[in-house]
Amino acid sequence: MAKHSVALAKKRWPLMLLAFISISTVMILFMRPNNSDSCNTTKTFEAQQSQIHPSSVGNAPAGPSPLDFMKSKLVLMVSHELSLSGGPLLLMELAFLLRGVGSDVVWITNQYPAEHDQVIYSLESKMLDRGVQVLPAKGEKAVDTALKADLVILNTAVAGKWLDAVLKEKVTLVLPKVLWWIHEMRGHYFKEAYVKHLPFVAGAMIDSHTTAEYWKNRTKESLGIKMPETYVVHLGNSKELMEVAEDSVAKRVLREHVRESLGVRNDDLLFAIINSVSRGKGQDLFLYAFHKSLQLIQEKKLKLPSLHAIVVGSDMNAHTKVEMELRKFVTEKKIQDRVHFVNKTLAVAPYLASIDVLVQNSQGRGECFGRITIEAMAFRLPVLVCPSLDI
Ligand SMILES: *[C@@H]1O[C@H](CO)[C@@H](O)[C@H](O)[C@H]1NC(C)=O
Ligand SMILES: *[C@@H]1O[C@H](CO)[C@@H](O)[C@H](O)[C@H]1NC(C)=O
Ligand SMILES: *[C@@H]1O[C@H](CO)[C@@H](O)[C@H](O)[C@H]1NC(C)=O
Repeated sequence: MAKHSVALAKKRWPLMLLAFISISTVMILFMRPNNSDSCNTTKTFEAQQSQIHPSSVGNAPAGPSPLDFMKSKLVLMVSHELSLSGGPLLLMELAFLLRGVGSDVVWITNQYPAEHDQVIYSLESKMLDRGVQVLPAKGEKAVDTALKADLVILNTAVAGKWLDAVLKEKVTLVLPKVLWWIHEMRGHYFKEAYVKHLPFVAGAMIDSHTTAEYWKNRTKESLGIKMPETYVVHLGNSKELMEVAEDSVAKRVLREHVRESLGVRNDDLLFAIINSVSRGKGQDLFLYAFHKSLQLIQEKKLKLPSLHAIVVGSDMNAHTKVEMELRKFVTEKKIQDRVHFVNKTLAVAPYLASIDVLVQNSQGRGECFGRITIEAMAFRLPVLVCPSLDI
């Protein structure tokens, strides 16, 4: 325990500095892997393993990694896209864990935009820095790697499109070593074009029992196919996040800094919704409810601290209708001084450290378990969850 505190103390400053910088810019975050001692992949895996007993995360003993058997193995990861969203980021985390135990890891992004994309560029640089090879989705090299690989991980149901398109007649040689990681539950994923090879892969890995049951039922009912051997593997929190969550000094400094930058006072009440801004995530309802609360407080002359709302996950570049609607709503209702938009970011810890309540308001059947829920719980925050979620 003592040894651990010393290690933490040593790490605290670089970590906090890092977090500071990350508040103002997304891109700086991508430099995090260079700071390799605050990002030990072995420990991240231990953190993930100990998700059931969060209290044990802090004192995970140094020892052999349970992933050691993957040393020198060739792993091909096929992601349907590369973006700052849950699926690709989880796969990237796994890539780094495998690099940490000496696996050779090759990454393929199936859906690649035509024009230059700064986020993709940064995420790829981050992978290259950590020794993950990045290959084009199509071509001889992709096929060769798939044939040679000891394990092929397909990430999300949609990644199934890659199999026939690229492997063609060789697909049957690869299927027996495919682990298919499925996070989603939306009805439109149950398409033959995506999942027809599912019965023939080595295994499916699914984030929750609810989602696994749903897949089992839907594949059978709507496609007449059988799920392969299915493993339910719950998501865990990363070691980096847990370190901040358990460091009261770091949390306090981050809280002060974020609040100051937003113009939120220490005793104001700050509600947050932290998801990519999109229709399914319920940011609109969150803001309507927030506005309604402000009205109620005024009408009833309630004596309450000032309420603020923060929406982390904004992306003005995407020009989505939802984003425009949210901004318009805030302007029309003249609550700009109470509602704060923050760009999409990999580093949620500073925001978790600075808020009072997290609202997880994803709407609709297709929305699956969002890791932000357990990340907020690690920060001992009250989390308001809407019942349609797979939780
Ligand atoms: C947020 O994103 C917008 C558009 O992508 C950009 O113009 C702005 O500078 C970003 N804000 C911060 C604080 O990075
Ligand atoms: C990560 O931590 C483990 C256990 O503390 C240690 O054995 C290993 O050498 C570290 N790896 C790196 C890359 O620092
Ligand atoms: C299974 O799928 C059918 C048809 O899609 C649906 O009517 C039924 O409610 C589902 N059952 C469960 C337990 O999800």
